Amino acid sequence: MTKVLIATEKPFAAAAIEGIKKINAEAGFETILLEKYTDPNDLVKAVADVDALIIRSDKATRQVIEAGKNLKIIVRAGAGFDNIDLAAATEKGIVAMNTPGQNSNAVAELTFGMLVFMARDNFKGGSGTELKGKKLGIHAYGNVGKNVARIAKGFSMEVYAFDPFVSKEIIEKDGVTVVNTVEELYSTCQYISLNIPATEKTKKSINFELLSKMPKGATVINTARKEVIDEEGLKKFFVERPDFKYVSDIAPDCNSELLQFGNRCYSTPKKQGAETSEANINAGLAAANQIVKFIKNGDRTCQVNK
Ligand code: 3PG
Repeated sequence: MTKVLIATEKPFAAAAIEGIKKINAEAGFETILLEKYTDPNDLVKAVADVDALIIRSDKATRQVIEAGKNLKIIVRAGAGFDNIDLAAATEKGIVAMNTPGQNSNAVAELTFGMLVFMARDNFKGGSGTELKGKKLGIHAYGNVGKNVARIAKGFSMEVYAFDPFVSKEIIEKDGVTVVNTVEELYSTCQYISLNIPATEKTKKSINFELLSKMPKGATVINTARKEVIDEEGLKKFFVERPDFKYVSDIAPDCNSELLQFGNRCYSTPKKQGAETSEANINAGLAAANQIVKFIKNGDRTCQVNK
């Protein structure tokens, strides 16, 4: 019998688990659950005889992949797949997939929760600023970026985007102004929403030089990845620009040194952009369905290690 392991250090909502179990049962697959584990070795042990693995931000390291003797497919129930050792998966002939778009509305909504929080003195009672009429720059126009643009329009913000991988026409269709360089995005916009993946190219790319281009009253919202920020440059910029604010959903970005900047720096205690029952259900069920389609029909849609 095909065995599907759901390994989530940060568990899915109960309704998502029920849905995944149902999909598996209908396909004649067995579901195995490993939740809230703290020791990575638990995942190494649990993967030993399963055919398929569903994870969130859990790390599918080379060790995990090599321990999965029967493993045929890993699905990251979410967008970013930087937590999968793709080279190791490819070497072992294992298909790796993500579930694009399934949790993007949740992340985009949190972006605005954090934006308002920062613009309103961290809800501490001081006088804040409004978002209406302000310029928001979306750094990467993927599924999250697109949803951020949609919501920003509801706030009557002026929306700009930079993404060399998405055509101008697609972005402009959403009423968003395309800029041609990343520097232009940062020099134009008071607010920047980071929606770039963590890759060898993007790691530490948000540095002092780029931040320095931002206008007065600048705020950067990072719902992407900790790795894309050059933290040394960020700290330097905080010192140089007392008007600058940074809010992140990627704990522990705001480590003790950054916390000295008080209300200007905030990080959620645990990544929670995709932490809604809707996002869990969307991403979890998509992952389960993708596994069934792959095992039964060899369907490789959403494969990321081609
Ligand atoms: C993603 O890449 O999909 C998000 O970062 C969400 O990650 P999570 O499933 O671990 O909350």
